[in-house]
Amino acid sequence: MQTFIEKMPKAELHVHLEGTLEPELSFALAKKNGIEMSYKTPQELIAAYDFHDLPSFLTIYYAGMNVLVEEDDFYQLTYAYLTKARSEETLYAELFFDPQAHTTRGIAFETIITGIHKAQVDAEQKLGIKSQLILCFLRDMSAESAMQHLDLAMPYLDWIVGVGLDSDERNNPPIKFAEVFAKAKKMGLKLTMHCDVNQNNTLTHINQCISEIQVDRIDHGINSLESEELCTLIKDKKLGLTVCPVSNQFVVQSLTSDEIHKMLDKDMLVTINSDDPAYFRAYLNENLVKLQKEGGFNQAQIVTLVANAFKVAWLDEVTKENYLNQLEDYVAQ
Ligand code: HPA
Ligand code: ZN
Repeated sequence: MQTFIEKMPKAELHVHLEGTLEPELSFALAKKNGIEMSYKTPQELIAAYDFHDLPSFLTIYYAGMNVLVEEDDFYQLTYAYLTKARSEETLYAELFFDPQAHTTRGIAFETIITGIHKAQVDAEQKLGIKSQLILCFLRDMSAESAMQHLDLAMPYLDWIVGVGLDSDERNNPPIKFAEVFAKAKKMGLKLTMHCDVNQNNTLTHINQCISEIQVDRIDHGINSLESEELCTLIKDKKLGLTVCPVSNQFVVQSLTSDEIHKMLDKDMLVTINSDDPAYFRAYLNENLVKLQKEGGFNQAQIVTLVANAFKVAWLDEVTKENYLNQLEDYVAQ
């Protein structure tokens, strides 16, 4: 089963580029940019990773980004992730980035997005991995700041497929960003939002995402299972859920395999993803392999989880069909 998973053609729809920053690259960039690291070696840095909830993760995640300064730093970050993903037979990825976490440090929006975009183009040409970019707003910043960053993105609309919402969910409901997301939708962008596991008012947040913001997907969304009504809405609207088992494990001490079984049983379009793989020390294959072991998923269920990601990807129908055919051929062999 492990080899079957590792060789499968896959898609990843929930990965934060800044969460793919490996400690070795951090140290190399810190040296180049003259930034002092708080730890002596990459191993010491990894040993200091201590997450037990969303805020404790975010503190370490934001601190790690300080080494990203020049356009080429964003290029290297992105190219390294796409290289790793392609080596795991990930053929398509939708990548989140957090511009506000960089512009607040004085980095220009153009620097960030140009570095990322150039790496996407090169990786598609040289490695054969296709990717699209999702601009995430930090929900613990103001709606005005989010709107300013949507405006900054205007000249780069061709490089962005959608917008998302991440960072600290506490007291930052989806509705706070209703105007920004309405504008993004008018601009032709797809919409998604994080509804992290076990957050305060999670059912209200999930409901706002669906009914008020009218998202195209939900990131995480595990707690929707607590409401039959929400499950029905998610199913009827064919909304994909981008679940991240190893990420969830830091918060709920389980890979949420029971919940993923329930979603499959209900025919909800659940997908498996890595979230912040450099921090959680698990890329997509590790997420799938660990999940399969914990939950005893059979081959058909694993195939459904992977097929769902291609089905709810923000791609045209022909491209999706091509990927799904590749997956079907692989399974047949
Ligand atoms: N949730 C919220 N914010 C984040 C995450 C996440 O999983 N990863 C990076 N920023
Ligand atoms: Zn996430």
